[in-house]
Amino acid sequence: MLGGMVDASRPKARTTKAAVGSQPRSAWFPVFAGSLIAITLSFIVLIFVVADKFGGDGGGVPIPGAGDPRPTATATADGATVSQPPTASQPPATVGPGDIDNTPLLPCNNILVPVDKNHRLGADCAPTDLVALPGSASQGGEQLMRLEAKEAFLELVAAASADGYRLYATSSYRSYQQQVITYQQNVAAGGQAYADRTSARAGHSEHQLGTTTDVASNVASFEGFNGTAEAKWLADNSWRFGFIVSYPPGKEEVTGYAREDWHIRYVGRDVAKKVRDSGLTLHEYLLK
Ligand code: DAL
Ligand code: ZN
Repeated sequence: MLGGMVDASRPKARTTKAAVGSQPRSAWFPVFAGSLIAITLSFIVLIFVVADKFGGDGGGVPIPGAGDPRPTATATADGATVSQPPTASQPPATVGPGDIDNTPLLPCNNILVPVDKNHRLGADCAPTDLVALPGSASQGGEQLMRLEAKEAFLELVAAASADGYRLYATSSYRSYQQQVITYQQNVAAGGQAYADRTSARAGHSEHQLGTTTDVASNVASFEGFNGTAEAKWLADNSWRFGFIVSYPPGKEEVTGYAREDWHIRYVGRDVAKKVRDSGLTLHEYLLK
């Protein structure tokens, strides 16, 4: 019989201490070493399982193009932070290249989700009913919105026109990848701190919902729109068409973003009226 195979016809050897001790090292050392490696590997696997269970990662995705330090535990916490709007002193929720975005993932295709610095849409979340606005109501290339939001926006534009104001959509639906670029452009233009006051990181922009648009009149820049008669008309009337100005003046501590009189988000007429009557920002209302 070849070495290593068991011969059942032979009497079993007695495994006394003396017998083991007397075996040559070549016989028991591989068994001992193998057991040691197996125990070590099991221990390492156990450590990873425990770390994953209690580490708080809800299935985050890498955020390309951002350049911030990792967020604190506060910024990356799970649902416990939902009722706590971000403040300007909070670090942005998203992180640097190759890092993980641990903020809670919102459901796709729900127009009332609280997209903000602490809640994100998935990279593959895109509306399926995007339609182009007509040239009469848009500027700066093709502007896409979800069908219901587009119809409401055209009614808003017509009402503004009847009151003597020309309004156009200038930046509407932006995909996750487009927002990566938009955010990077803002960093390049004004630095990280500026970008985080004025631009959402990818996954954190209301523009990814397909219900949001930036509005312009005939002024050259977005900032030039703030405080204009057109901006006042928009703030006073957009709710009638189901839109809310997401980042009103004086609310940066609450919304996390500097004033944007031009940025409106469609939530439907009923909700828009409730938001207006509540006196809350849309952000606060959706987190209630
Ligand atoms: N400017 C807003 C915050 C956005 O980028 O969605
Ligand atoms: Zn906007």
